[in-house]
Amino acid sequence: MTMPEAQPLEGRPLNAEPLAVDPPVLRVANLAKSYDLPTSLLSRIARRGDKATLRALDGVELQLNRGEILALVGESGSGKSTLAKILVGSTAATAGEIEYHGAPMPARRGKDDSRRIQMVFQDPYSSLNPRLTVGAMLRELLVLHSIVPAKQVREESKRLLNLVGLEEDALDAYPSQFSGGQRQRIAIARALAVRPDILIADEPVSALDVSVQATVLDLFATLRRDLGLSILFVAHNLAVVQHLSDRVAVMYLGRIVEVAETAELFRNPRHPYTRALIDSIPRMSAGSVTEAFQLEGEPPSPFDVPSGCRFNPRCPYAVDACRTTDPVLETVAPAHLSACIRASELTELAVARV
Ligand SMILES: Nc1ncnc2c1ncn2[C@@H]1O[C@H](COP(=O)(O)OP(=O)(O)O)[C@@H](O)[C@H]1O
Ligand SMILES: [Mg+2]
Repeated sequence: MTMPEAQPLEGRPLNAEPLAVDPPVLRVANLAKSYDLPTSLLSRIARRGDKATLRALDGVELQLNRGEILALVGESGSGKSTLAKILVGSTAATAGEIEYHGAPMPARRGKDDSRRIQMVFQDPYSSLNPRLTVGAMLRELLVLHSIVPAKQVREESKRLLNLVGLEEDALDAYPSQFSGGQRQRIAIARALAVRPDILIADEPVSALDVSVQATVLDLFATLRRDLGLSILFVAHNLAVVQHLSDRVAVMYLGRIVEVAETAELFRNPRHPYTRALIDSIPRMSAGSVTEAFQLEGEPPSPFDVPSGCRFNPRCPYAVDACRTTDPVLETVAPAHLSACIRASELTELAVARV
């Protein structure tokens, strides 16, 4: 893919939009993914028609900026992995646009576009080939993508292990010989081997012991700093990303409902769902516990997305308009977007409850 040329300043109308000096590395608009499933399989879940449509993603708006760590957070089933798979190109969207460095991503990606967006999965046990040594696995990739000349492959492999904090002797070992945290480091080295500029990490620490989670989180921070990677870090738990991410995007039932810088999001959540996620984080000291905001109602079903605001059946702040108006993601403060028609009142509502 070629990068867009810089536009000349002359001849631009004075009221033109500011020049996008650095377009987002990835941007999606109106992204949708639905699955049509026969009711024979799912009649008990859907209970209607001869086909049930599951809306895994439904109008996703999101951008990943160059060199940032953006967290994508939401409860299980909200569509995070589906979005991750569409971004790396392993699943096709049903509708919507994807831009890569400001230009439309081709529906069929070339080898180079695929190389530049790499994924790290939750489960390092099943994502590594048990029959290949770490060295053989890295060699295969380095050769296939012509990353370095053949005689430099071993040196390059050592450099990759170094990057992820592993010793060189790991090259001759098999995945089964490593701990969970080390395997995740190997999976990260594999993703880095082809020199991506974007890393999509789908719950990369969720399967790890709590004691090693922090060290792997640190690795992501180091890689962003040293390699300038742009990282989309998927998590189901806000606490995991609080100290890692620059920004947080909150997903609910197939849509992004709030985006803000991390500190701002924690300090000043402007969507009731985000507030519920923050309140569900266990606090260390009893003194810091405010009245917990309880999520009401059943977890949502993507077969039957509520009309109006999709969160309204569980929202303690819902008013009549919330049952009819489907809110769009709008700016509520600088660099802070929320899809709630009561976003501007939420600060007062939160205070009033305490
Ligand atoms: N291949 C598939 N076929 C049918 N439904 C799917 C498929 N993949 C995901 N889904 C459904 O899409 C919804 C979102 O799933 P997913 O993206 O995995 O959510 P998350 O990663 O946030 O837990 C879920 O209801 C899930 O059951
Ligand atoms: Mg998932």
